[in-house]
Amino acid sequence: MLTTLSVVLKKAKRDQYAVGAFNINNLEMIQAVMTASEAEKSPVILSTSEGAIEYAGMDELGTLVHLAAERSKRPVVFHLDHGKDVKLVERAIKSGWYTSVMFDGSSLPFKENIKATKRLVDMAHKKGISVEAELGAIAGIEDFVSVEARDAHFTNPEQAAEFVEKTGCDALAIAIGTSHGAYKFKEASALDFKRLQTIRKLVNIPLVLHGASGIPADVKKVCLDYGCKIEDAKGVSDAHIKKVVSLGINKVNIDSDLRIAFDAGVRRFLHDNPEVIDPRKILGPAKDLITQVVRQKMKMLGCSGKG
Ligand code: G3H
Ligand code: 13P
Ligand code: ZN
Repeated sequence: MLTTLSVVLKKAKRDQYAVGAFNINNLEMIQAVMTASEAEKSPVILSTSEGAIEYAGMDELGTLVHLAAERSKRPVVFHLDHGKDVKLVERAIKSGWYTSVMFDGSSLPFKENIKATKRLVDMAHKKGISVEAELGAIAGIEDFVSVEARDAHFTNPEQAAEFVEKTGCDALAIAIGTSHGAYKFKEASALDFKRLQTIRKLVNIPLVLHGASGIPADVKKVCLDYGCKIEDAKGVSDAHIKKVVSLGINKVNIDSDLRIAFDAGVRRFLHDNPEVIDPRKILGPAKDLITQVVRQKMKMLGCSGKG
């Protein structure tokens, strides 16, 4: 059943687990994630980026997600991911599809981010829609070696408290050293755990970790074995995801891991079955691999059995 981000994350915060937010772009990805949610009896957040909307259409994705959510007994949140264009966020709020939107004003000066976020929060709340906001630059920890550089780019804990109080947002995405995409670290996975702890003490709403893909070794191997050139891909370790969840992260965003699962499934199937031209057969194993990956994430985040 469809529900809001606020409802799902309040429970997660109370019981100290995180809910996975998975980026979907098409029917197969929606089916794969929903199969995992059902198998794990887990709440789930289905996210569409601006790029997903451009690719597949807001109404098209909205229709598919609503159908899937109506048929599911699990709590399902339909979420706009990284709405940077205010007009698109407004359109999402007015569309009637979304139960949650993210306004990403992280590139704006602090005061402008507050102002724009607050306006959208007021608009969304009138319709019963939750709002995730972002403060700090989601960028790799290896990009900032000095304390000064990290302070300048990662989320400032005092500012986070002020931001949440002034905007009334329902969840806050923070920057503690993850980055988007499949190439997060050259060295070992590392995050600014101390910063997270301080933010958690000062901010009383659910916190969100973006850029949380792990690039699982087994899936990466299938990609490599079948010709995908992602030798240097490296994600956040499972141990570090578990640690940030124990320190107070309640929503974890995953896109790249679904992409590599899709890629691995399609490449392997086409290689092993060169005579097959039926897209339903070609995409079947990709769906199954995504389901496997999502189920592993749900177990790791502690949201299995919570839906
Ligand atoms: O955070 C960004 C997501 O990975 C979405 O990526 O804009 O290519 O759909 P995308
Ligand atoms: P990954 O690239 O690590 O999957 O991050 C996805 C994300 O943060 C979507 O908002
Ligand atoms: Zn993100």
